[in-house]
Amino acid sequence: LISRAFRGQFVIPDFPSFTKGIEHIYWNCKSNSQGRLATYIPQLARVNPDQWGVSVCTIDGQRFGIGDNRVPFTMQSCSKPLTYAIALERLGQERVHQYVGQEPSGRNFNELVLDHNKKPHNPMVNAGGILVCSMLKDLVKPEQTLAEKFDFTLNYYKRLAGGEKLGFNNAVFLSEREAADRNYAIGHYMREHGCYPEKPADLRELLDYYFQCCSMESNCEAMSVIAATLANGGICPTTEEKVLLPETTRDVLSLLHSCGMYDYSGQFAFRVGLPAKSGVSGAMLVVVPNVMGICVWSPPLDPMGNSCRGVQFCEELVGEFNLHRY
Ligand code: DON
Repeated sequence: LISRAFRGQFVIPDFPSFTKGIEHIYWNCKSNSQGRLATYIPQLARVNPDQWGVSVCTIDGQRFGIGDNRVPFTMQSCSKPLTYAIALERLGQERVHQYVGQEPSGRNFNELVLDHNKKPHNPMVNAGGILVCSMLKDLVKPEQTLAEKFDFTLNYYKRLAGGEKLGFNNAVFLSEREAADRNYAIGHYMREHGCYPEKPADLRELLDYYFQCCSMESNCEAMSVIAATLANGGICPTTEEKVLLPETTRDVLSLLHSCGMYDYSGQFAFRVGLPAKSGVSGAMLVVVPNVMGICVWSPPLDPMGNSCRGVQFCEELVGEFNLHRY
């Protein structure tokens, strides 16, 4: 890092003026009071809606954070690209996509709907997320225990985050499991249609694992490192560990481009032109390939389920710095 700094070879050479721009956008978005908290998971309805944090990590490890950038929140659907990445690494693209598609669903994220091949539309909606979870068997060893599988997943996420803040929020997990009729319905519907590679004997176990992934707890700082690992072809910029294959990050980012922002994905791709993933906690992972990872977090959501301040931030970011990929 230091030798690069001396040579002036950073991917964002004038980082101080860049962060000034980010700060300016941060304050613009701060005054946005639109949106409502997700209420279908009771524990998510209890957070303070004023919280607003932004963190940036470049692929060469320059960092910036502002606001509530260290306050923990649960990943929710921001876990889906990570679990999908693990599945790609373990099983390969072909095998994974035998069971889950690559098309935007054009529907809400939690709808009881499959594509015309009776597959979930993509790994970023709930049906696809649950299906990907069902493929992660024998991660550690055959007949692994649920505890081993949980630990393995948490550690994998942690490596993507360069060892930074990553934990588990048990209250959110329990709350989510209590309020999970829709996800159980999706799980059963997919079993009825023979969607799983192996018919799950116990859907409760499968859904517990899915809820555990959603209830992983992190903050903007650590999640910006995860986004930066995805921006950097799978090499974590802070530890230089090669966590994912470049092909994996390519596949993940392709689907984040087309399916990462719920039923706003098309408009987001048009207006912002960056791969991103949102979750109902109000978190968003945003990737500027080969440049940086960003995480923004603000709990109030628009009717589509995306963070209001988060979407505004991305639109202003792209306007200010010309980061739209096309
Ligand atoms: O399954 C659920 O409804 C939540 N755990 C996650 C929802 C979410 O963030 C939406 N994602 N596509």
